[in-house]
Amino acid sequence: MKVVVLTGAGISAESGVPTFRDADGLWEGHRVEDVATPEAYVAQPHVVHRFFDARRAALAVEPNPAHHALARLEEHLGDDLLVVTQNIDDLHERAGSTRVLHMHGELLSARCRACGGRSRWVGDLGDFPPCPACGVGALRPDVVWFGEVPYEMDRIEVALEGADLFVSIGTSGAVYPAAGFVQYALAHGASTLELNLQPSEVSLLFHESRQGLAGELVPAWVEELLAPGRAQ
Ligand code: APR
Repeated sequence: MKVVVLTGAGISAESGVPTFRDADGLWEGHRVEDVATPEAYVAQPHVVHRFFDARRAALAVEPNPAHHALARLEEHLGDDLLVVTQNIDDLHERAGSTRVLHMHGELLSARCRACGGRSRWVGDLGDFPPCPACGVGALRPDVVWFGEVPYEMDRIEVALEGADLFVSIGTSGAVYPAAGFVQYALAHGASTLELNLQPSEVSLLFHESRQGLAGELVPAWVEELLAPGRAQ
C-alpha cells in the first residue's frame, strides 16, 4: 500500500511549536501572510528576520507521539510512505523519518540571494551574516513565502498520482497548493483521511475525517494500518 501523508502546523502543536492560524493568528500584530512575503522582505527585512529568527530559536522542543508514529510507519512501509510537510521545523527528522519533503522549506537552512547557495543554518540571520559560499551578507531564510513556488512539487505530484491512501494531518486547508492535494489524490483513485483538531476548510472532500489531538489520533491510525493484513 502506497501512502502519502501531508502534515501541517497542527502535528507540531503538542510539541510546543505555535500554529499559524489558531488563537488570534497574529505575531507582534502582523498576520503571517504579511510577514512571510518577498515584498515584506524588501520593505522590512529586519521584521521578517525577527519573525523567522524567533521561530528558529523556538525549535528547542521535542517530537511528539504523532511524529514518532509516522517514523514507526516508515519502518514498516519503507519507500511506500512519503511524508510531505508544510512545516519548516525538523521534528519529523528528529523522530526518525527519512522520507520527508519540506515543501515550504526549512528553518535550519539559509539561502543566499547573491549566489543561490543553500547552507545549514542554526543561528540568527537578522544581523546579515556572510554567506559561507560567497561571503556576501545576503542570506535569507530558506523558506517558501507567500507568492513563491513551493519546493518539490514534481515529486509530490508523482507520489499523489500513485498513492492508495492520502492522509492529511494538522493542517487548516487554508493554503494552496497543499490544500488541493486531497482533490488531486482523489482524482487519481486514492482513499483519503483527515486527522485534525477541528474540521479543516477542505474536510468535506475527504472520505473520512477524524477530529482530535494529533498526538492521539496519529498513533491510533498507525496501529490500525499496521494491524495484520492491512498495510500490504
Ligand atoms: N492536533 C491536531 N490538529 C491540530 C492541533 C493538534 N494538537 N493543534 C492545532 N491543530 C490544527 C488546527 O485546528 C488547524 O486546523 O492544525 C491546523 C493548523 O493550521 P494552520 O495554523 O493554518 O497551519 P498550516 O495548515 O500548517 O498552515 C499552512 O500556512 O502560514 C503558512 O507556510 C505556512 O506552512 C504554513 C501554511
